Amino acid sequence: MVDVRIRKPVAICAGLFVVGLVSFSCSSPKPASTPLWGDLKPVVSVKELMHDMIDPIADYVFESVRIVTTAQGTVETYPRTEEDWDKIRVGGVTLAEGAYLLKIPRPFAPPGDENNSAGPNAPELSPAQMVAKIEKDPVLWNAKIEALRNVGLEVLEIVKQKNVDRLWDAGEDLDIACETCHIEYWYPGEKGLWDKLDRRLEELYGPRASKKPFGMGK
Ligand code: HEC
Repeated sequence: MVDVRIRKPVAICAGLFVVGLVSFSCSSPKPASTPLWGDLKPVVSVKELMHDMIDPIADYVFESVRIVTTAQGTVETYPRTEEDWDKIRVGGVTLAEGAYLLKIPRPFAPPGDENNSAGPNAPELSPAQMVAKIEKDPVLWNAKIEALRNVGLEVLEIVKQKNVDRLWDAGEDLDIACETCHIEYWYPGEKGLWDKLDRRLEELYGPRASKKPFGMGK
């Protein structure tokens, strides 16, 4: 038996050789390119990745430009020093690279954590429901990941140009990238709310007013 298994490929190779032309297909099989240098092994759940990496690092971008008005007056925050810009670049790189960590299959929540997913109008999906949604349409999940990555790239471009005005746009784009994924996979019940709001606005003010907030409520 073993013998046969070993000899079979040899026979095929010999066959190819006879058919003619020296063929390299018999040399040891090597993939044309090496897509990854090794395995990707997740450490934490999606929930923890959000809490311990994506969310805190996003603040490097969100909080880089701000205008806060209090009784004492108005305080404007914007990057002034090289260090300020470095920090924003750390945010951009971590978001752009870190987004792809969401492509590694990993649990959605730590073991035993079912999210706020019980009861008739549960606000959150359970981890199992999240997995089911992604398995049904992995392309959509990947598109949300790419959208997050693109904002990371946008931030890197802005840092290169040291363009404070565009930082405001990046903050808004980032918010959209986060929320359009959350509304799909985390608390889709709110999507219904946006739809209702849209319909109501349309009734009141006509189709133009129904411009969807943050592209939600499709
Ligand atoms: C590709 C989809 C996706 C993107 C993009 C995304 N998230 Fe999430 N996020 C999730 C999912 C799914 C959950 C819910 C996980 C769970 O509760 O099991 C979540 C949960 C969270 C949580 C809750 C964590 C906790 O401890 O309960 C925070 C905070 C969060 N995300 C922040 C962000 C921020 C900030 C961004 C953008 C910078 C972002 N997310 C982008 C999918 C995404």
